[in-house]
Amino acid sequence: MAKEALKIVDQRTDMEYEVPVHKGTIRARDLRQIKSGPDDFGLMTYDPSFMNTASCRSAITFADGERGILRYRGYPIEQLAEKCTFLEVAYLIVHGELPNEQQLKSWVNEITFHSMLHETTKKFLEGFRYDAHPMGMFISTVAALSTVHPEARDVHDPANRLRQIHRLIGKVPTIAAYTYRHSRGMPYVYPDSDLGYCENFMNMLWRLAEPKYHANPALSRALDILFILHADHEQNCSTNVMRAVGSSQTDPYLCVAAAAAALSGPLHGGANEEVVKLLDEIGSKDRVPAYIEQVKAGHGKLMGFGHRVYKHYDPRARIIRWAAEQVFATTGKNPKLEIALELERIALEDEYFIKRKLYPNVEFYSGIIYQALGFKPDMFTVLFAIPRTVGWLAQWKEMLEDPEQKTARPRQIYTGHAQRDVVPMEQRAGTTLAAER
Ligand code: CMC
Repeated sequence: MAKEALKIVDQRTDMEYEVPVHKGTIRARDLRQIKSGPDDFGLMTYDPSFMNTASCRSAITFADGERGILRYRGYPIEQLAEKCTFLEVAYLIVHGELPNEQQLKSWVNEITFHSMLHETTKKFLEGFRYDAHPMGMFISTVAALSTVHPEARDVHDPANRLRQIHRLIGKVPTIAAYTYRHSRGMPYVYPDSDLGYCENFMNMLWRLAEPKYHANPALSRALDILFILHADHEQNCSTNVMRAVGSSQTDPYLCVAAAAAALSGPLHGGANEEVVKLLDEIGSKDRVPAYIEQVKAGHGKLMGFGHRVYKHYDPRARIIRWAAEQVFATTGKNPKLEIALELERIALEDEYFIKRKLYPNVEFYSGIIYQALGFKPDMFTVLFAIPRTVGWLAQWKEMLEDPEQKTARPRQIYTGHAQRDVVPMEQRAGTTLAAER
């Protein structure tokens, strides 16, 4: 059998090195021994945006972008979406195994028990302007929880860590619902512990004067499925932030707030809001070809298309299309669906998109369903952040338990000036002007 090693010849010195290969990867640290001379720091790799760098070992999520596969802890996403509830999947992601009946019961109890917010947190939310973006309110309020639960700073105590995990999973829907009620000037609705995770969320969002809120089961199940699909996605931008911030032993509330901030960008979780804006801008099916031509000419991107990992159909997008049909059977069709289907049809036949392997991603259809469920576009990314909190926390826990992980601290290639001396102020203006000329 061939040796699992890489032979490197440094043509600067004619030296030869052997670097072990494990799971198709070499350790960047092994390159450090390769030096051009005794004063050389040693060879580094340069990889802006982590295009080809594994930053950790993880046993949580497996995504194969070429084959369109996504699995949590080994289970295909299709089976989890069909057979499990979101909280069952959350247990799986955090603990590594599907729960038995007893484990699920106590997990659900713990999360439900922690769904209430401290009254001061409610007051904190009241301080936002009526038109504040819900994602900004969500991020800030999650960060503010750090002041309510200062014991969370002890990140090395496993029992304490787990308590914060229960709290965060329990509280994020409450915060999300409160941001929604606040922006509409409606009184807050307290969590109802008789209800399931998604039903209770819908209760906190939409309950008016009725004594008990009853969610439409088809709609709450669709939301549950959307939450399952968004629960984790290995080392994406926000998860990388969660791990990086957590690596300095920051408490999990601040880590989740930081990760949610990364998620809010339009190229990541903010894409769902942008897709709906784009469909509105297109306006009708017959205007799709002209829009595609505009994108191909370099005027903007087709939001909801493309993925760093998936160079094939995003398996989540397929399930979302199915879930959309279930929702529309109850709510009636969202007229934007027709435009979205036409966009997908034309884009998938177009050389520009074929060549770049650009397929619809999870966000392409999610906004259309959220809208049919009654959400305004500014809530879409918050709806992504609720389930992704589970993935962030599982990744954070895994990182803290990994003895190889240290404070995240990349290297750089310095491109600035070599050493130079400070010029006194009276001589400076002239020198600057001369340099500019
Ligand atoms: N529309 C048009 N062209 C695109 C698109 C798009 N949506 N995405 C990528 N391209 C082009 C890009 O211009 C480039 O073309 P060229 O080679 O001629 O310069 C090529 O495809 C490669 O793109 P890239 O930006 O180098 O690829 P990336 O892996 O860095 O970007 C991405 C991945 C998701 C940021 C990008 O595809 C994108 O901006 N998509 C739109 C935003 C979006 O839908 N984001 C949600 C991602 S899924 C949810 C999540 O996990 O965040």
